[in-house]
Amino acid sequence: MHIFEKIADLREWLARQRKSGRSIGFAPTMGALHEGHLSLVRAAKAAGDVSVVSIFVNPTQFNDPEDLRRYPRMPEHDIALLQRAGCQALFMPELEEIYPPGQDLTVLLDFGPLTEVMEGQFRPGHFQGMATVVKRLLDIVEPQRLYMGQKDFQQLTIVRRMLQLLAMPVELVMCPTVRELDGLAMSSRNLRLTPPMRAAAPALFRALTAAREDFVAGKPVADIREAALATLREAGLQPEYFEIVDGYTLLPVETQEAGPFVVACVAAWAGQVRLIDNLILTGEGDGAFQTPAG
Ligand code: PAJ
Repeated sequence: MHIFEKIADLREWLARQRKSGRSIGFAPTMGALHEGHLSLVRAAKAAGDVSVVSIFVNPTQFNDPEDLRRYPRMPEHDIALLQRAGCQALFMPELEEIYPPGQDLTVLLDFGPLTEVMEGQFRPGHFQGMATVVKRLLDIVEPQRLYMGQKDFQQLTIVRRMLQLLAMPVELVMCPTVRELDGLAMSSRNLRLTPPMRAAAPALFRALTAAREDFVAGKPVADIREAALATLREAGLQPEYFEIVDGYTLLPVETQEAGPFVVACVAAWAGQVRLIDNLILTGEGDGAFQTPAG
């Protein structure tokens, strides 16, 4: 695996790959890698892409300085995992490489409600920082395909909108959420869970799967939400939201007739650690997340 810290070196290598006819598949990450991240590498390789991963803990998307400070950093561990997964290139830039002093690269797009609901309500500025760094990284890597996890469903939806708004020639590939055996979605933040909170955390997935059953069975959406919030509280978690939304607009749905693609999204605190997860209730399944016609 090639490891690059400088944009110029990475781009020189990428140019050579393109010259020999290879397509580039890119998965941006913030490190502390786990199977969820590696599934993106595997998806890129399965599609025949040269797989490129970036590790950059992006300060502009952290609304909480304490969360940024405590974000796990373990470059040697990450390099070993990527090597084993067959990743071909790793980009690990310093701060100044991504944000050159004196240049303002902030993405100022109007995403409408997509950035205002759910995470947007609880993490002001987060998505603007996320969009800014993803745009910056895409401009550097110029991949054919961008691999992102369903785990961060709202993030993926916003990136999809950004690609549309900027008419960027990148195909977005959604990779299914990789879970622990007890259902907990893998996350770098899981490393910070205390043992009791790690034991409580699978309640997110339990609440989501119960919501899917109830939704398909035709139960009222308001009741499903209440039951899910109760499940989370009973497990000792502090929910911030449990929303049943249209998978394209992210606006709350009122009934089962609402739309072809419905997703339940949840955020809850497990002690000092904030966890998010989601599950598709109806509509396009994992990996088949297409842009709606029109
Ligand atoms: P990070 O949380 O490191 O996640 C990097 C990518 O891995 C994202 O696309 C995320 O959805 C995916 N991922 C994380 N956990 C996963 C799981 N359990 N199953 C499947 N995919 C999973 O998301 C970010 O970093 C940042 O916001 C980033 C896009 C890199 C911009 O800074």
